[in-house]
Amino acid sequence: MFISPEEEDILAGKEGETPARMLEILVALGKVYGAARLIPIRSAQVSGASYKTIGRWGLDWLQHLDARVSVPTVLNPVGMDRARWREMGISPEFAKVQEEVLAAYQRLGVTMECTCTPYYLYQTRYGDHLAWSESSAVAYANSVIGARTNREGGPSALAAAIIGKTPEYGLHLVGAREPQVVIRVEGGSRMTDAAFFGALGYHAGKLVGNRIPIIEGIRPNRDHLKALGAAMAASGAVALFHVQGITPESRIFAFRTAGLEVINVEFDEVSALRSEVPVDAVALGCPHCSPEELSHIAALLAGRRVQIPVFVFAARDVAARHPGDVATIEESGARVFADTCMVVSPAMERFGTIMVNSGKAFSYVPDMCGAAVRLGTTGECIDVATRPRAPVT
Ligand code: F3S
Repeated sequence: MFISPEEEDILAGKEGETPARMLEILVALGKVYGAARLIPIRSAQVSGASYKTIGRWGLDWLQHLDARVSVPTVLNPVGMDRARWREMGISPEFAKVQEEVLAAYQRLGVTMECTCTPYYLYQTRYGDHLAWSESSAVAYANSVIGARTNREGGPSALAAAIIGKTPEYGLHLVGAREPQVVIRVEGGSRMTDAAFFGALGYHAGKLVGNRIPIIEGIRPNRDHLKALGAAMAASGAVALFHVQGITPESRIFAFRTAGLEVINVEFDEVSALRSEVPVDAVALGCPHCSPEELSHIAALLAGRRVQIPVFVFAARDVAARHPGDVATIEESGARVFADTCMVVSPAMERFGTIMVNSGKAFSYVPDMCGAAVRLGTTGECIDVATRPRAPVT
């Protein structure tokens, strides 16, 4: 692996102990995966930010680091809304240690945005090299934008953020981005809500594992693609997918699919993941809501009252830029929280059954929140949340 003179200096500790250790992580990864060199990245997104997932050991490790990030860097969602954690039912003890994690990242120069949708915050373009770690963000960046990132672990994303480079291997290489399996969807025109694409992703992810699928027979918009990729990354380990005629690389490259395994999926198999079980709470915004999704939820809730807790999750910046939609949602009794989500926050652990419109949340809620989960379209979620409850006798 080629190491430049500047990188040799960093490794020798001329810029301090932390940059040297961070570059060692990147070089070690590069050697394991056969990278020829390190390449500059445009941005980083670092997971391992919720105290619920990193715990005391992770916090201690962060607090001993001494460096600054050299590219725009945000965090994955943390365990609570930084401003409204009391309203979420978060304990002061948890809030204290979560604040310590955030302070440790802030000292490193990380922007205090905690979101799995960094692509709504700063422009990410086709061909950009990134070091992102949250699986849905990675799938979106690679597939929907045509940027290039491997699925980084928290430490390797932070190392890349500090050094401003990442080893050039895996999905940074054009030749490693070709489809490996075909998914052919029957009845794709009936998929009109992100929940169907989440359900398709949940189903397909289990079948394709970590292969790169090319999907035929669907016409998703960007929010649908976000839901699809998030779910395939959760139930499988998909970091890049193509949709024939829709995603950028499927339009730029004439991918050869002859000879690839073909998996047929029918709309009814996908739709059958929805159920009718009673629920205690509704959680929307996995991945964090786009501006269009916030508007859609606001339109559905306008003039209605929710009868059970409804949580809507979005990036702080996205919510701040759409105060009218946030106000309409909150007038119904629902809450829009930033910085966190239904999976990484301990706030959701008090519910028995949670209804979601996301294939990724459908996949993660049972294990991460200890709750049963029901999948429905966004409209079905709002209908269930606003339906009058039978009086308790
Ligand atoms: Fe984002 Fe949390 Fe879902 S990190 S993708 S909202 S599980």
